[in-house]
Amino acid sequence: AATFALAAPGDDVTVVAHRGASAYAPENTLAAVREGVRLRADLVEVDVQRSKDGVLVLVHDTTLSRTTDVEEVFPGRAPWRVGDFTYAEMQRLDAGSWKAPSFAGERIPTLREAVFELRRSRAGLLLEVKSPALYPGIEAEIVADMRAVPGYVDSAVRADRLVVQSFDWPSMRTYEALEPTVPVGLLGRPDPALLPELATWADQVNPSHRSVDTAYVQAVHDVGMTSSVYTVNEVADMERAIGLGVDGIITDRPDVLLRVLDGR
Ligand code: G3P
Ligand code: CA
Repeated sequence: AATFALAAPGDDVTVVAHRGASAYAPENTLAAVREGVRLRADLVEVDVQRSKDGVLVLVHDTTLSRTTDVEEVFPGRAPWRVGDFTYAEMQRLDAGSWKAPSFAGERIPTLREAVFELRRSRAGLLLEVKSPALYPGIEAEIVADMRAVPGYVDSAVRADRLVVQSFDWPSMRTYEALEPTVPVGLLGRPDPALLPELATWADQVNPSHRSVDTAYVQAVHDVGMTSSVYTVNEVADMERAIGLGVDGIITDRPDVLLRVLDGR
């Protein structure tokens, strides 16, 4: 006799390691990407920006101060904006010690390095285009950078292992026009009235978990999009997000989320 599994909230929730597994390793470094892979996240989320000389690098803040020793290495270069430093200058920075001494010597990685790291793993990439208004033309550069890794984009898309997202929705419109096979996500919480139009070109709506309820997630599903919520680090919040029926959960602690999902 045939058996039928009823879909329930929590089934097939995508586990996303936020800025890598950033509870345990310095965010947006290869150490954090590898830790996300090791902890069996489905996707690793990272933030991409651009150096002064046009290299796509992984950094969250629009300045280098919080996550590197830039103020010591380049004391005269306030306000230490990402886009004011060349890639070679960035490579002189320690992007790990601020997190823990054991990570001393971690460098700011390129997008390309992260892609190479993930390509030989089972994990996928959730790429956030951070503050693209500061980096005109970055969308086409992301396309070129990822297409330069032979076969990566098409195989990752086929395996549901690549999504590009941003709080800057016009930037995602631009990216989608350039790279229509790659799913795009809109960070934030668009008004429900906008969802039908957004669904004509976007694939995901990814809001703060605190900003949504079951009705909102249902409204996203009703227009055929999926929803992953950020940044969910506490068990009670993970349980709540699962109950909302979300498709993915973005967390600094993917191991904790996996335990919550497995225990259901
Ligand atoms: O993936 C969503 C989340 O990363 C957005 O917020 O500030 O951590 O980039 P933020
Ligand atoms: Ca992010």
